[in-house]
Amino acid sequence: MKHRDLLGMEDLERADIERILETANHMREVGERDVKKVPTLRGRTVVNLFFEASTRTRASFEIAGKRLSADVVNFSPSSSSLKKSESILDTARTLDAMDPDCVIVRHSVAGVPKCIADVLSAPVINAGDGAHEHPTQALLDMLTVQQEKGRIDGLTVTIVGDIAHSRVARSNIYGFRRMGAEVRVAAPPTMIPADVETLGVKAYTSLREALEGADVVMALRIQNERLVGSWFPSVREYSATFGLDRARLRFAKDDAIVMHPGPVNRGVELSHELTDDRSSVILDQVRNGVAIRMAVLYLFAGRQRGRAAAEETRP
Ligand code: NCD
Repeated sequence: MKHRDLLGMEDLERADIERILETANHMREVGERDVKKVPTLRGRTVVNLFFEASTRTRASFEIAGKRLSADVVNFSPSSSSLKKSESILDTARTLDAMDPDCVIVRHSVAGVPKCIADVLSAPVINAGDGAHEHPTQALLDMLTVQQEKGRIDGLTVTIVGDIAHSRVARSNIYGFRRMGAEVRVAAPPTMIPADVETLGVKAYTSLREALEGADVVMALRIQNERLVGSWFPSVREYSATFGLDRARLRFAKDDAIVMHPGPVNRGVELSHELTDDRSSVILDQVRNGVAIRMAVLYLFAGRQRGRAAAEETRP
């Protein structure tokens, strides 16, 4: 890979994305074996540094590391010296002195993984920073679409929901555009960033128009934790206008698939029946999350050993 760290989809070229997806396809096969373990990262240490809540992402990075035989350490701020007001950068320097081979960072503030990468010798993988980026989520979404549709190029992908506060939306916009898909976003006007069309997407405030002819429909969670003030009149009104159910899905192509990064607010952005419908690939996304994170660990944590090598490859 050209970059030492994986901080965002914005930095990846099409060839990088293709390489990660191809590697993940091989990794998926390891997960189908009886003994789900290969020695690829034996002797390497992967640190999970999650400052913000996570179920799928943290667990799948841990499982991915273990399937590759790495030693995985979970560091949770609530039980660390951050409670004793050690700064994030001092925590990062302390971790660095323990010579990890890769550090996975999630934080509620955009840019923290980059700040940590600036002081660490080891590669840093962004596992979600504020409303900025969540690259491994976009990669697992692309792997799922490729698996379901056989391609990404030329498809129409409609992302519905809180675009303004969603790192998943931003990473997917960069990723799907770079892979040649048409990307549409649909939301109440208050949840569409004013300059979103500069990213090469078309913005809709009519759900029906946004869904017409879509191959992929991706619903996003309302980011309650990032909403300060009032962005729409009520949850009930949001779900009446932008909530997806079987009837509304009929505006999209007959074989359209429904995606959601999870956790789903059932009955808000997706109806109960659609969440569990045949068209829903939500659990395939979770499964593919492990394969993508194995590929990312292999490509970013597996290529260099120790501080000296890291310094050599530094710009
Ligand atoms: C997403 C996240 O944390 O950004 N969840 C995830 O990683 N699967 C989406 C969300 O929380 O809405």
